[in-house]
Amino acid sequence: MNNRILIIGACGQIGTELTLKLREVNGSDAVIAADIREGNDELMQSGPFEIVDALNKGAIEKIIDKYAINELYLMAAMLSATGEKHPSKAWELNMNSLFNVLNLAKEGKIKKVFWPSSIAVFGPTTPKENTPQKTIMEPTTVYGISKLAGERWCEYYYNRYGVDVRSLRYPGIISWKTNPGGGTTDYAVEIYHNALHNRKYDSFLSENTKLPMMYMDDAIEATIKIMDVKPEAIKIRSSYNLAAMSFTPEQIASEIKTFIPEFEITYHKDFRQNIADSWPRSIDDSNAKKDWGWQPKFDLHSMSENMLNSLFKKFNNN
Ligand SMILES: NC(=O)c1ccc[n+]([C@@H]2O[C@H](COP(=O)([O-])OP(=O)(O)OC[C@H]3O[C@@H](n4cnc5c(N)ncnc54)[C@H](O)[C@@H]3O)[C@@H](O)[C@H]2O)c1
Repeated sequence: MNNRILIIGACGQIGTELTLKLREVNGSDAVIAADIREGNDELMQSGPFEIVDALNKGAIEKIIDKYAINELYLMAAMLSATGEKHPSKAWELNMNSLFNVLNLAKEGKIKKVFWPSSIAVFGPTTPKENTPQKTIMEPTTVYGISKLAGERWCEYYYNRYGVDVRSLRYPGIISWKTNPGGGTTDYAVEIYHNALHNRKYDSFLSENTKLPMMYMDDAIEATIKIMDVKPEAIKIRSSYNLAAMSFTPEQIASEIKTFIPEFEITYHKDFRQNIADSWPRSIDDSNAKKDWGWQPKFDLHSMSENMLNSLFKKFNNN
């Protein structure tokens, strides 16, 4: 059966690039982008788009019927930093959107679901270096609590109802096409913009705050790959640890200096420091490598070169 794909939250940082890639692979008309707001020009001009609220199960069902959808990617969520400002809204959006989609799959309306989790499922009591797949998980943010609960529900729906749901614990995702949506790792995107435009950046995380990160190209590749493999290959139905690189603000700044020598960084911590301090510094993703052949392509150097070149072109061609 051909893939007929719906992406909810398609206009966000990851959804935009995921939609564009899935359209390249499956053909534009087979991939329906949906969100509560319109996306950037590239996304809007690349294929079908629908306004849909992930909290409205009936509305999602109508789109599934209208386009004969069999595969759904749920990218709508409230991220870590914004979630701390609106805890009950974050819980409502992150949980109820997932229930809507899992229930539609349980009812046989869709065959396969992708739902992203996050390194935010870990907390201050989790081992920080090379954090294992299975370990202590006591998240302290509402975002992390919602992602951990979501993981448990994904596994439950798989075990109890046979729902083919697949999930990745994304680290901080770095990209240049679309701005990040209110996470604790957003500094690692802002820093490249500021390096190009102002030659300086004031970091909201301290110089030694090491966090797991990934370039968007790798995140999209991992997402499409886990959705492509046979169901038997997926041994973990909660969510897979996923990793590419880890670095501190100081390390990314000195990498940027190799391209822009006059770049300067300063540090003024804000509330996001506490969130970052509760998360792992590096992740063990050996299960993803073993089970379905995950292998990242970008490290800090190749990502920095690609980010700066892409942002330079973007701002000088427009
Ligand atoms: N970006 C990261 O670094 C990162 C890291 C770990 C996990 N994730 C997860 O990946 C997913 C996508 O993240 P992102 O960075 O693209 O987020 P984002 O905030 O950039 O995008 C989310 C999109 O969802 C849309 N949305 C919000 N409420 C909606 C609703 N009720 N109905 C329909 N759409 C709605 C927003 O308009 C937005 O376009 C999320 O589940 C997030 O938790 C992201």
